[in-house]
Amino acid sequence: MDVKVVKDIKSKVLGIFLPEGRDKLPEGIPSKLKKRINELKRLESFKGKESQVVKLQTLEGGVDVVYLVGLGKRSAVNEDTYRRAGANLIKRLKKDKVSSADVLLTEDRRVKELSKVLTEGLILGNYSFEKYKTSKDNGEGKFEVKRVNLVGGDKKEVEKGKILAEAQLYARGLVNEPGNVINPITLAEEAKKLAEEYGLECKIYDEKEIQDMGMLALWNVGKGSATPPRFIHITYKPKGKAKDRIAIVGKGLTFDSGGLNIKTGNFMRTMKMDKSGACAVLGIMRAIAQLKPKVEVHGIIGAAENMPSGSAYRPDDIIRAKNGKTIEVDNTDAEGRITLADALSYASELKPSRIIDMATLTGACMVALGEYTAGLFTNDEKFAKELKSIAGRTGERVWELPMDDERLRKHIKNTFADVLNTGGRYGGAITAAMFLQEFVGEGIKWIHLDIAGPAWSKEDYAYYSKGGTGFGVRTCVEYILSI
Ligand code: BES
Ligand code: MG
Ligand code: ZN
Repeated sequence: MDVKVVKDIKSKVLGIFLPEGRDKLPEGIPSKLKKRINELKRLESFKGKESQVVKLQTLEGGVDVVYLVGLGKRSAVNEDTYRRAGANLIKRLKKDKVSSADVLLTEDRRVKELSKVLTEGLILGNYSFEKYKTSKDNGEGKFEVKRVNLVGGDKKEVEKGKILAEAQLYARGLVNEPGNVINPITLAEEAKKLAEEYGLECKIYDEKEIQDMGMLALWNVGKGSATPPRFIHITYKPKGKAKDRIAIVGKGLTFDSGGLNIKTGNFMRTMKMDKSGACAVLGIMRAIAQLKPKVEVHGIIGAAENMPSGSAYRPDDIIRAKNGKTIEVDNTDAEGRITLADALSYASELKPSRIIDMATLTGACMVALGEYTAGLFTNDEKFAKELKSIAGRTGERVWELPMDDERLRKHIKNTFADVLNTGGRYGGAITAAMFLQEFVGEGIKWIHLDIAGPAWSKEDYAYYSKGGTGFGVRTCVEYILSI
């Protein structure tokens, strides 16, 4: 779908956003049409409630149909409200098989912000994972809206919104690919392809190089699989002098069966999504290559498949990570943190000022915060404050959990090695973060986002559709742009 900016209303279909209790229609509607909308609006009892979309047969001034889209309570309207409303509109257009429409920007003074967030909502809302469905009559999902025109929008902001939304969809699409399509090798090939297409540097290390470089933590997690692990390093360098250097690290378990501590019951289902952090990293690098900030950005992924087999790593094994620290394996299902031990050590050697890692790391984080909010952990409160403020605007919910509980930290220190890979049932998201902290280099500002919950959506909701969400892409890109 394409989003364009136009000066005046031209299409036969028009979308208008309105909050609860607002009767005044936005500027720019011809008076006869305005009158007609006001009449029909009352008849259809449009209240402006969030996610309410009402279709009016206007047949006036060249506009046949108007969709009124609710924004909910006026006091609660923010950027994400518009993103969600844009998605609600596009979903309705899809359902009604409307292939193009105009959309009116409601508030003149916020044209820039609204142009961007509406573009994001429209593009994100238009996605669903359908590529493996073969039957032609298989529903609405397949109908695509071709074009939406933002009447009086800001071109530059629309372009930015497109890049961000498409990067998020790219990440989403990769997360949705199953383990028989995306494995560590094909994920690395995908990274290479992306880098070539967008003019980024990309280095892939195979299983031999991984061992030679001392990344035995990643190697051990991956060695039980028929598909060996890969290490992916993509670099974006700006033209001229960079203001800063940042590394984005993603957990890349293309499938997590649990390994020898095999997952029971239904817990293995959806574990193709355990590569969500890695897919977000690729999405971020794609957007960064297009938006070209004056910051050097390193995208780092340890890709592996966690499988049980005769060659799999075991509980009790003691493994040395790249930074020299030893890890005792308590549970092979706490594998993500082990792969990240090497990825964070590698990232630290690049001497970035900051590292953000994203990982579908713990079920415990979902127990603590629910499935729609990522856990945020940090060694630098100022850094966290900046990221939280940006996440507040991207609509990607994050909530900070503490790292200063030294008694809890002892749980991962009760080991024959330097650190144990689990810390018991309570505070599981925190002990996982504390484990990661062992592998972050001295003096580097670091944020860990546990995205186990929000990386996956069980149902369609606003701009999310069932499956991978691409969570983290927009927040990280906006953060890098803000440096
Ligand atoms: N990939 C899982 C975490 C996860 C769970 C992500 C549910 C998304 C949804 C991770 O590798 C894992 O298995 N963690 C264990 C850790 C435990 C063994 C200490 C968990 O959370 O149960
Ligand atoms: Mg696991
Ligand atoms: Zn996992």
